Amino acid sequence: MNKWAEMYKAKLTTPGGIAQQINSGDICVSTGQVAEPCAILAALAERCRRENLTGIQHNLLLTMRDQPYLRPEMTGRIHHNSLFVSAYCRELIWNGYADYVPAFYGEVPENLRNQNIDVFYTTVSLMDKHGYFSFGTAADLSEIRRQAKKIFLEVNPAMPRTHGSFIHISEVTALCTSDVPVTEVPSGKISDIDREIGAYIAAEIPDGACIQLGIGGMPNAVAQALMDRQDLGIHSEMFTESMVDLIEAGVVTNWRKNIHRGKSVVTFTFGSRRAYDFIDDNPGVEFLPVDYVNDPYVIAQNDNMISINACLEVDLFGQVCSESLGPKNFSGVGGQIDFVRGAMRSKGGKSFIAMPSTAKKGTISKIKPVLTQGGIVSTSRNDVDNIVTEYGIARLRGKTCSQRARELITIAHPDFREELTRQARELHIIP
Ligand code: COA
Repeated sequence: MNKWAEMYKAKLTTPGGIAQQINSGDICVSTGQVAEPCAILAALAERCRRENLTGIQHNLLLTMRDQPYLRPEMTGRIHHNSLFVSAYCRELIWNGYADYVPAFYGEVPENLRNQNIDVFYTTVSLMDKHGYFSFGTAADLSEIRRQAKKIFLEVNPAMPRTHGSFIHISEVTALCTSDVPVTEVPSGKISDIDREIGAYIAAEIPDGACIQLGIGGMPNAVAQALMDRQDLGIHSEMFTESMVDLIEAGVVTNWRKNIHRGKSVVTFTFGSRRAYDFIDDNPGVEFLPVDYVNDPYVIAQNDNMISINACLEVDLFGQVCSESLGPKNFSGVGGQIDFVRGAMRSKGGKSFIAMPSTAKKGTISKIKPVLTQGGIVSTSRNDVDNIVTEYGIARLRGKTCSQRARELITIAHPDFREELTRQARELHIIP
């Protein structure tokens, strides 16, 4: 047995053994999404219930499964500070059982660095012969471990061994094993409207461009419409299944990137087993910390950076709401602004924010004279570049307020254009 294997053996315990080392009032941080250490958290919830621990703070970007610590009876015991609002914690946040921390994703590590972090825990892949574990599907907050007093790992053979970010056994306080399946998330279905929007955006993406795509039907539609392009690159917060298609088709080569040439750079993924198998031991995809990947100055170093994201509504000034329905937190800002700003600084860069023109079966226009009362401005009118619906692209950058309003009305659903024009006049946005 080599030195690292011996160290592994000495630090190996059970999820319960790790829960025993987490105390009331501890501030804990995990890497995001499907890398959340589910077995440790289940054991921690159980210990909290049994021994009445209180005031433990659990921070991560977003959870992707229903877990015991999210139950309302955990109130006061484990408090979930979510850095995004996912389907699994939306109701909890609305009802006061969990909280949302608004922040640009790329700045989350810096915000956490100002706190006194007691515990860093996460799921990792199997240890290699040199004593390293890969951070697998999420490297986003991996550097926060350097601030933590204790580091706990949940080693899961189903976690892909990705390249880019590793942790060494010598850094670890204790570890356990787990065979909890890595959560699979089905890829977003593509609607007819997604296809129309995808075609408009794809037409704006030249050969050699570097792309960022989010999750969902619309980004998938963009990817499908890019199958005849050459030498695209990927620098994206999320690695998506549609990127697997682009890489396997030879569309993405990353050869024209200025940084990380030949490699796709991302900070996390969630998706199907096909995507997890693709990234496993694949040196062509690098998972790096989010404060690097989402830094607009880093993003801007690639030429022709194209950022593609979605939103909930846009007002006639070009203010984009992507994270709330009125005052109710529905989602998070994530890396939307990081990439909008990065793309804007990139030579030849463009950003696209897309949405269907209507919601609720065509009864609501998503282009509004002003945002719904209480709606949160995600991308400000000073940052916005292009807004896209199934009726085309509104090019807002550098335009006056009245030009913006007219551009936006042109891509609103025809049923709402007259009313929007009337309201724009009433509000003195257009003469
Ligand atoms: N008014 C009222 N309801 C609206 C609405 C509006 N303007 N827009 C959407 N809705 C409703 C929809 O009808 C739907 O409700 P339903 O589920 O009852 O049908 C719900 O809100 C969700 O809308 P949908 O368009 O399906 O959202 P989505 O799942 O495509 O997600 C965002 C869209 C904007 C929430 C998502 O892209 C996001 O979180 N973006 C911000 C983060 C980001 O960009 N990160 C960077 C890339 S990873």
